[in-house]
Amino acid sequence: MKFLCFISFSLLLFTTISLSSTNFQTTKYFDAVKYWCGKPYIPKNYLFKNVKQLKLSINQCSKEERFDPKKQIKTNYTATFPSETPPTIKFPQTCEPVPLVPDLSDGYTAMFRNQPYLSTDLIGSLIVTLTNTISTISVKALLHDETEILVKTKIKNEGTSIELPFSLAKIKSNLEAHEVKILFYNEDILVHITYAKLYLLPIGPKTVKIDRLYGGILTSTNEKIFPVGPYVDIGGWLEKGNIQTNLQILKDQNFNIITPDPPYPNISFIHQMFQAADAIGGIYIQFSFRHDYVDIQKVINQVIQFKNYSSLLTWYIADEPDGEKWTNSSAVFEAYEAIKSVDPYHPVTLTLNCKYSSAFYADATDILGTDVYPVGVSMSNCTEYSDVCGCDDCIGSVSLDIPKRTQQYVKDLTLIGRESNLKWMALQAFYDQNSWWERAPTPQEIRVMWYISIIYGYKSLMLWRFPFFLDQSVIDQIIDLSKVIKDLSNYILFIPQLSISHIVVSPANDIFVGIWMAKNQPNFLLIVVNGNDNHSVNFKITIKDLICFDLLHGVGKIDNEKNIEVIIKDGVFEGNLAIYSVGTFIFKKDLINRAHMSCYDT
Ligand SMILES: *[C@@H]1O[C@H](CO)[C@@H](O)[C@H](O)[C@H]1NC(C)=O
Ligand SMILES: *[C@@H]1O[C@H](CO)[C@@H](O)[C@H](O)[C@H]1NC(C)=O
Ligand SMILES: *[C@@H]1O[C@H](CO)[C@@H](O)[C@H](O)[C@H]1NC(C)=O
Ligand SMILES: *[C@@H]1O[C@H](CO)[C@@H](O)[C@H](O)[C@H]1NC(C)=O
Ligand SMILES: *[C@@H]1O[C@H](CO)[C@@H](O)[C@H](O)[C@H]1NC(C)=O
Ligand SMILES: *[C@@H]1O[C@H](CO)[C@@H](O)[C@H](O)[C@H]1NC(C)=O
Repeated sequence: MKFLCFISFSLLLFTTISLSSTNFQTTKYFDAVKYWCGKPYIPKNYLFKNVKQLKLSINQCSKEERFDPKKQIKTNYTATFPSETPPTIKFPQTCEPVPLVPDLSDGYTAMFRNQPYLSTDLIGSLIVTLTNTISTISVKALLHDETEILVKTKIKNEGTSIELPFSLAKIKSNLEAHEVKILFYNEDILVHITYAKLYLLPIGPKTVKIDRLYGGILTSTNEKIFPVGPYVDIGGWLEKGNIQTNLQILKDQNFNIITPDPPYPNISFIHQMFQAADAIGGIYIQFSFRHDYVDIQKVINQVIQFKNYSSLLTWYIADEPDGEKWTNSSAVFEAYEAIKSVDPYHPVTLTLNCKYSSAFYADATDILGTDVYPVGVSMSNCTEYSDVCGCDDCIGSVSLDIPKRTQQYVKDLTLIGRESNLKWMALQAFYDQNSWWERAPTPQEIRVMWYISIIYGYKSLMLWRFPFFLDQSVIDQIIDLSKVIKDLSNYILFIPQLSISHIVVSPANDIFVGIWMAKNQPNFLLIVVNGNDNHSVNFKITIKDLICFDLLHGVGKIDNEKNIEVIIKDGVFEGNLAIYSVGTFIFKKDLINRAHMSCYDT
C-alpha cells in the first residue's frame, strides 16, 4: 500500500514536470532572470512569454530595503513575487536596487590624512568635515585605552574640510590599525561619536600613502601623483614581446599607472613586469585580483610575493563586484581584511559599476573607484528598478551622467561618515556593438568626460581599455590630456577645491566649473567645461572669494588653442566656449591686492 502510494505520487510529480516543460518549450521561458546592480533584466535574444507580467513583478520588488553598513554583509534578503510568476523564472535573493542608506554620521566625518603613518613620522592629522549647520564644534580623539591623542579643539564650520594636526609620539607602532574614537561637542555637550582607523606602522617595507585632504596618492618614493592610465589586456598585448619595451610604450603615452587585466600567464611574468616597471620608474602598477579575490589564500600568497616592488601602487580587489553579486559579495570584505593583515603598507582599491552600491562597499576599500560608460548606449528600456543598458541609471550623456553618479555617491558616503574616501574614475575608451555601447567616444566627448570627472573630485582617471580600438584622433586626445593633467595636478593635488557654494555660474545647466584656490597661494586654477552638445555658450562665473579684488590677470587655454590672456574683474570671469569645449585658466593674485585678503574670511 505504501509502495503504491509512493509510485502514484512520483507519477503525479512526473506528469506535472513534463507538462510544464512542454509548456516551457513552446513559450520559450528563459530559466533564470539575469541580475545586474540588483536589477532584473532580460538578456538579449531571450524570449519571455509575458514580459509585462515580469516587469510588473520586478516593480514590486522592495525598493527600500534597508541595509546596515556596520553589519556589512547581508546574504538573506528574499524577494517575494506574486505566485503567478512563471515557476521556471528563478529570482535571486537580491532584489533591492535602491537601498535606503541609514544616517550614521549626523553630518560629522573624520578620517586621517597621509595614512599609513610610519614610526619615523612625528605628526599626524585628522581631517574633519562637517555637513550640518552647527557653526562651532569641538573635536577630541582618543585611543582605545582612552589615551588622548588630540586634545579638545575648537573649530569653525566653514563648509570645507579642516585639518587638525596632532603628535604621533604617544602612539605605539603596530601592524594593526588603532581604532580611534573621535568625539564631537557643541558647546560642552557631546553630540556625536565616530571611529577612524589609524595606522602607525613599523618602518621597513615600501609604503604608499593617501592624502585625504587634497586627494592625491603618495608613491613609494613619496611623490604625490594623479594616476592616469589604462586597464591593459595582458594576454592580448602586455605579455607579447618584451615587457620592458611594452611598459615604456605606455609611459611614452604619458600614463603613470596601469591596471594589467588578468589572467596573468604565470608568476614569473608578474615578477618580470614589476622589475621592468621598477627599472623604468614613474609608471606604477595597480595589481588586480579581478578573478581571484574569492580565493583568499591565493590573494595572500600574491600580496606577500609582490608587496616589496617600488612600482606597486595599489591592490585592486575586484572589478564591478556589485554588478552580478550586488550586495552579496562577502568575499570582497574578506579579501580586504586579508590584504590589510599581510600588507597594511599599500592602499586597497576597487571599482563599482552601480549607482547605489557605494555605501555598501565603502569599508571594503581605501579608495573607491567607479566606472561610468555613457557613450553609445540606449537607455530607452532602462529604469532605476529594472533592466541594464551599460550605464547604471544613466541617461547616456557625457556631461550629465558623471555628476549624477557622483552626487549619489557623495550623498550616501556622507550619510555613513565616509565622505572623505578618495574617489577614482574609470572612463570609456572603447565601444562594443555586441553589448551596450554602439559607438566610441569622440575626442570632444573624451575631453568633456575627463574634465567633468576632475571637477567632480575624482583624483585618478583610468581607461577601459588598452590597446585602444579607437580612431587615431581619439587616441591622440587621450595622450594629450594625460600630459595636460600631469601639469594641472600641481594645482589639483596641492590646493583645496572651492566648494560650489563659493561660486555662481550661469548658465548653470550647461557650464561646469572647478576652482582650486587657497588664501596662502599666489596662483589659482579655474577649469570651465561647456557640456552642451548643441551650441556654444556665453558664460559668467562669479567667485565670491574674489569679489573685492579689482582685476586679476591670467593665462588660459581653450582646448588646443594657443595661450590666451584673460582677466577676472571684481570677482567675475566671463567668456565663451564652443560645443563640448574646455578652458583651463591659471590666475595670479596681484600681491598689491594682499590688503584685500580679508575678503576670504567673509
Ligand atoms: C538566513 O535565513 C535562514 C532562515 O530564515 C536563517 O536560518 C539563517 O541564519 C539566515 N542566514 C543569515 C546569514 O542571516
Ligand atoms: C550569496 O553568496 C553566497 C556565497 O558566495 C552564495 O552561496 C549564495 O548563493 C549567494 N546568494 C545569492 C542570492 O546570490
Ligand atoms: C620584503 O621586504 C621585507 C623587509 O622589508 C622582507 O622581510 C621580506 O622578506 C621581503 N619579501 C620579499 C618577497 O622579498
Ligand atoms: C610565462 O609567460 C611568458 C609570457 O607569456 C612566457 O614567455 C614564459 O615562457 C612563461 N614562463 C613560464 C615559466 O611558463
Ligand atoms: C526595448 O524593449 C522592447 C520590448 O521588449 C524591445 O522590442 C526593444 O528592442 C528594446 N529596446 C532596446 C534598445 O533594447
Ligand atoms: C541637443 O539637441 C538634441 C536634439 O535637438 C536634444 O535631444 C539634446 O537633449 C540636446 N542636448 C543638450 C545638451 O541640450
